[in-house]
Amino acid sequence: MTKAERKGKEHGAKSLELRAESKEEEALSCRPYALIIEWLRERLNPKLYRHSIATQELAAELAEIYNVDRQKAVIAGLLHDCARGLSNEELLSHADRYHIPLDHVQLAQPVLLHAPVGARLVQMELGITDNEILHAIAAHSTGSKEMSRLDKVLYVADSSEPNRDYPGVQHIRDLASSGDLDGALLKAMEVKIRYVMGQKLMLHPLSTEAWNDILKGSRRKELPADLRGLCSADERG
Ligand SMILES: [Fe+2]
Ligand SMILES: [Fe+2]
Repeated sequence: MTKAERKGKEHGAKSLELRAESKEEEALSCRPYALIIEWLRERLNPKLYRHSIATQELAAELAEIYNVDRQKAVIAGLLHDCARGLSNEELLSHADRYHIPLDHVQLAQPVLLHAPVGARLVQMELGITDNEILHAIAAHSTGSKEMSRLDKVLYVADSSEPNRDYPGVQHIRDLASSGDLDGALLKAMEVKIRYVMGQKLMLHPLSTEAWNDILKGSRRKELPADLRGLCSADERG
């Protein structure tokens, strides 16, 4: 067993059924799991690392419930916060290096960049090219318009993994485990938006878009099939 594989085993890698040179890794064009673990551990403090492992495990569970590719959920869950340990200056410099366009909210709150910068880091340094994984990582902080099921699974897993402890988190877990992914996502977004407002922080436009988009989707589902097409007309009133 290599040093990297030993490290992976020590930190829970064994339970994930991802092995070096597995078909899934080939399909994802990424490195063996043990090396990914080693790469990640060098970038995160122990608390963030624990959060990443817990997010990965919950994302894998939710992937089973919501018919999402489990391997993609595992990789996205594990790596979503890989840039969270970078300082504001480092995030801005990485964004510049990777030509990530900045908006005024990200300039005021560079921590938001850990999501898109993280997506570019795993692409450039780990060779992960799967667009669904990269999008889920890039969107995990703000959300985005037209979120995929993988995007939603990651957002909910990140918000409600077992180390999270805030009022309402159990409700998110209950919704997620009962088959209501959009309900869990809305609740998780609501908690985050309330926090952002309470702290007098700026709300990113992508969060507003994500919120409106999910809400619109949920309301359409509640309508009888023959009225769903009228939904946009209804919103003009
Ligand atoms: Fe994050
Ligand atoms: Fe996170």
